[in-house]
Amino acid sequence: MASTPKFASKIGLIAATVGSAVGLGNVWRFPAEVQSNGGAAFLLIYIICIFLLGIPVMTAEFALGRGGESDAAGVYARVTPGRKGWWLAGVLAITASYLILSFYMVVSGWTFEYLVQSITGDLYSSPSIGEEAFKERMGSYITGTYRPIVMTVIMIAANIYVLLRGVQAGIEKMSNVMMPVLFLLLLIFCGVSLSLDKAPEGLEFFLKPDFSVITPGTVVNALGQAFFSLSLAMGILVTYASYYPAEARLTRTAVTVSLLDLMVAFFMGIIIFPAVMTFGLQDSNLAGSALVFITLPEIFAQMGGTRLWSSLFFLLLTLAAFTSTISLAEVSVAFMQKRAGMSRTAAVLTVTAPLLLLSPICSLSVGPWSGYTIAGLTIFDFLDTITTNFMLPIGGILICAYMGWIAPKSFFQKELTNDGKLRSRALGLIHFIVKWIAPVLITAILIGQLI
Ligand code: PFF
Repeated sequence: MASTPKFASKIGLIAATVGSAVGLGNVWRFPAEVQSNGGAAFLLIYIICIFLLGIPVMTAEFALGRGGESDAAGVYARVTPGRKGWWLAGVLAITASYLILSFYMVVSGWTFEYLVQSITGDLYSSPSIGEEAFKERMGSYITGTYRPIVMTVIMIAANIYVLLRGVQAGIEKMSNVMMPVLFLLLLIFCGVSLSLDKAPEGLEFFLKPDFSVITPGTVVNALGQAFFSLSLAMGILVTYASYYPAEARLTRTAVTVSLLDLMVAFFMGIIIFPAVMTFGLQDSNLAGSALVFITLPEIFAQMGGTRLWSSLFFLLLTLAAFTSTISLAEVSVAFMQKRAGMSRTAAVLTVTAPLLLLSPICSLSVGPWSGYTIAGLTIFDFLDTITTNFMLPIGGILICAYMGWIAPKSFFQKELTNDGKLRSRALGLIHFIVKWIAPVLITAILIGQLI
């Protein structure tokens, strides 16, 4: 079997992993969750979730990936050869990541469309720039037949280009360029937003907690958001960690990646809430796509330099989405290479070709095919719901069960100490959380979803 490639540098492996974690989850899902869960209290609980659940589970996935040094299904047999059947947990994660990829690619096509329309100025060409106008524009765009599919296919092609170049020359090099640009853009937008008139009111909503608004639902939502945002339980972190060299420090990497991911979400809050307060849009619908495709264009239209700001923002969004789609696809590419013995080129083409059918189906299900439903949901919404609400938490429970109960603790220790070369003071705590606390909390997410 071909040997597993490795990231060339420490910066590169961090950039690639952060690139995977930072995505639409940070840029639009997080502010929308803050808004609908009462502001700063949600932020606080979210931060606790990142430390309590995110970092330990991420560390466990890194240990499994680097120690198992295989794809997300193959790692189990390498760590515990006598335990049959665990590969199924990997197959669940790979399936979830692939289904997510099929609709995430469509949304990344929307972000690219808005980038193009910001650059050309088309987005702001209509005489009316109110909420209704942007709502209608978005509605008619995403429910369209051809154009969203064309944009999705362009994003698939860009994915193929990077994936074909491989781990070092493709994923790592791209992340090394795109991640600094993304952070720079975020900082610029923070500066712009903080200089707005009503920045203090916006910051107060985002940063001053009102604990009376916390309900069990808030906690469940914060846990779910941490999961989604950190790319946990999808085979992504296991796959990327199989590319980590022996000297990479796993706990430190998990802390760095999680904190950078948190920072991006935090910056998005700093950007969004002052803007929303200043332009008097606090009652508008901040949920999901409406925030970025309706509320923000409305804000840009009211600012000087509309096209510039809008182009930079949609560039940020496109980059964030793109590096995430690459990581979602890489899970299946690694699987095909290792399990089916394919060359990288064959694996990339085998993984991306079905997307040319699946993603257009998702796209059409938003528009002309919205009448075809499963359990009352369009195909797009159905895939979103079963993956994020059910497959991810189940995958998370399985990862914790495996690393907490099945894999020997000595394996965990070997990975966290780089085979005894480092001290790992956090080992006991991380193992305890993965064994006892995380499975209970994730089960709570799952039950929360069912209710
Ligand atoms: N972590 C990325 C994001 O927050 O957008 C990528 C991602 C992870 C997307 C998990 C979807 C998902 F369910």
